[in-house]
Amino acid sequence: MNTYSPTPDSPQTDGGRSRLAAQNLVLAYNHTVIVDDLTLDLPDGGFTVIIGPNACGKSTLLKALSRTLTPASGSALLDGVPITAIKSKKVARQLAMLPQSPIAPEAITVRDLVGRGRYPHQTLLRQWSNADAVAVNEALAATSITNLADRYVSELSGGQRQRAWIAMVLAQQTELLLLDEPTTFLDIAHQYEVLELCSRLHAAGRTLVVVLHDLNQAARYASHLVVMKDGAVVAQGNPGEVLTAELVESVFGLPCVVVADPETGTPMVVPKAGASRPLESVLV
Ligand SMILES: Nc1ncnc2c1ncn2[C@@H]1O[C@H](COP(=O)(O)OP(=O)(O)O)[C@@H](O)[C@H]1O
Ligand SMILES: [Mg+2]
Repeated sequence: MNTYSPTPDSPQTDGGRSRLAAQNLVLAYNHTVIVDDLTLDLPDGGFTVIIGPNACGKSTLLKALSRTLTPASGSALLDGVPITAIKSKKVARQLAMLPQSPIAPEAITVRDLVGRGRYPHQTLLRQWSNADAVAVNEALAATSITNLADRYVSELSGGQRQRAWIAMVLAQQTELLLLDEPTTFLDIAHQYEVLELCSRLHAAGRTLVVVLHDLNQAARYASHLVVMKDGAVVAQGNPGEVLTAELVESVFGLPCVVVADPETGTPMVVPKAGASRPLESVLV
């Protein structure tokens, strides 16, 4: 695993807001407002985990923070500048985003997919270099898919494909990493492999913003937990303080008890026996 060192064009934080932030953000699809007036700082060097029920706007927020979605009003700010005012390639040297449902080009091998993560570092004068090849090999190794490098992405299992996407994002070698449900499709061992990888990246100084569904994993790994409901941030802070039974019941509608994780001491959510709610209130 390589350690991260800032690229020459990484600006310093000015000691005020964090590098990535949302200011009075309003996000809408065709005039349907999903996120209304959201203001949020994503702590520099933090491992922020965003949780919240289906359709509450987690992916929509990540899209705005990664310049994929233009706000109806307000701003996603990168180094204090509205991200939509920064050229996409420049953003991509600072921030990498793994969407929830990425779509691979036809007939592409894993190595070529991961190599696409190097695009922001290339210019007309500086095409593919040894540094790019090294970054790709390191990303393949970090996600344990070196042996799959020459396979077609379309031939992989869901879990293998997910790791190929994560490798592509790692190859981008950015200080900021946004991952939308990176553990979906993975079996439990590979879920923890990805979370441990995230944890190492965090320890190496990167800033992570990750959407997770599993509350116990969120509590274990997050240095900063953000809880969303209906397009708003309803709680944030240290998982040990934020993740209470009252919060889980009010946000997810799940009666539960919260106990200490026997391994880590972080909050562990245990649903009450027979706890359920009508399916139509779960599916939105
Ligand atoms: N491209 C889109 N066009 C219209 N509505 C969308 C689009 N993407 C998401 N939505 C709607 O926005 C809401 C929030 O979606 P999303 O941000 O994906 O939720 P989450 O990631 O929290 O599950 C949902 O009601 C969803 O149906
Ligand atoms: Mg989502």
